[in-house]
Amino acid sequence: MSKSVNGFSKLNKLEKIDWLVSRFLNNDQKLKQVLLQYWNSNEILQNLHDDFIENTLTNFYLPFGVAPNFVINEKKYTIPMVIEESSVVAAASLVSKFWSTRGGFKANVISTVKIGQVHFMYEGDKTELENYFNSKKENLYKVTEAITKNMRKRGGGILTIKLRDKTAELENYYQLHVTFETADSMGANFINSCLEVIAKEFQKEDIQIVMSILSNYVPECLVHAEVSCIVEDLYAENSIELAQKFVQAIQIANAEPHRAVTHNKGIMNGVDAVVIATGNDFRAIEAGVHAFAARSGKYKSLTNASIENGIFKFWIDIPLAVGTVGGLTSLHPLSKLSLQLLGNPSAIELMEIIAVAGLAQNFAALRALTTAGIQKGHMKMHLTNIIKQLGASEKEKKFLIDYFEHKTITHNAVVEAYNKLVQEK
Ligand code: MEV
Repeated sequence: MSKSVNGFSKLNKLEKIDWLVSRFLNNDQKLKQVLLQYWNSNEILQNLHDDFIENTLTNFYLPFGVAPNFVINEKKYTIPMVIEESSVVAAASLVSKFWSTRGGFKANVISTVKIGQVHFMYEGDKTELENYFNSKKENLYKVTEAITKNMRKRGGGILTIKLRDKTAELENYYQLHVTFETADSMGANFINSCLEVIAKEFQKEDIQIVMSILSNYVPECLVHAEVSCIVEDLYAENSIELAQKFVQAIQIANAEPHRAVTHNKGIMNGVDAVVIATGNDFRAIEAGVHAFAARSGKYKSLTNASIENGIFKFWIDIPLAVGTVGGLTSLHPLSKLSLQLLGNPSAIELMEIIAVAGLAQNFAALRALTTAGIQKGHMKMHLTNIIKQLGASEKEKKFLIDYFEHKTITHNAVVEAYNKLVQEK
């Protein structure tokens, strides 16, 4: 049976599943059932999800949880998080509570400018190109007016269009570097539509347009979040030594990219979870954040900490191009609900919330790493996953959780305890 197919997208969902199961899954009907069991019984809802992408077969669940007790700029939030890693929501919840009694988080957006570029090749005289650009510039704004009309009403639109000479990097390469304000939308479609119209207007015989696309590198779409307290309030004992270790952990991330990547990955545990819950594009965020972390030419920590005059301060600066209107935000019922849960924030407020979620995760990770280590808490959370993998009953699960209350949890230890329990039955 051929494993290639023509016109797959034209098949209906069941036909697609049957084709897949027969060609790639040994016609195992149990596996077909696995796919079918995730269909939503509400046909309208299922159709909505089917239409998000091409060739949808079923739904892929991820847990949707919440971390309560966040205080950001003196406002209380319960933050929705979508993530599979067992310890992330627990960590966020612990940290939110901790800082809620120490003044909460403070956050502010530094700027919200987004970028798009028309990349083109030009072999001619540079001054002629500059003159051409200057003669065209007004028109480049004009031709986008129909597209930018609604955005301008919401306070957004095109901010600047600049000609950039990139020939030092690549022979004959120039670009139109365009900056945008996209109000409460992430603005990808808006930016790309503007760019394509601009490119068409700008094109002429000796200008070869290569492509027109937004940039996910958004160092000017930046948010700052921080916490601070007197050092003695940080730990039950040895506050000064432990706070210093905390600061050293960040210095190490700044000195050593291997550590910085893991350090920032922990931050993204919090960031991505909220980005996904609110229907935003986590790949765009990831790409932009890591480029920002490497902006000095060396990959470094997104967070920083200081101890000055007895005050511990911990902060993050992170680029986040997110939206609260458009895209999936209002289409996915759970994203819509997430935004409602957050009080229908503006894009600016959502940037602040997401930055705080990232900072909170990093706080939890560094506090654990520089004291007891993370495995104790991590394995405690992971214990239920191991128990489930073993196929334990609810009664056995309860027994094993009690059994490991004060014991070191390792995969082997849990398997051994489970096997012993089954044998003793
Ligand atoms: C695990 O998902 C994240 C951490 O490794 C982050 C860190 O090491 O800072 C705990």
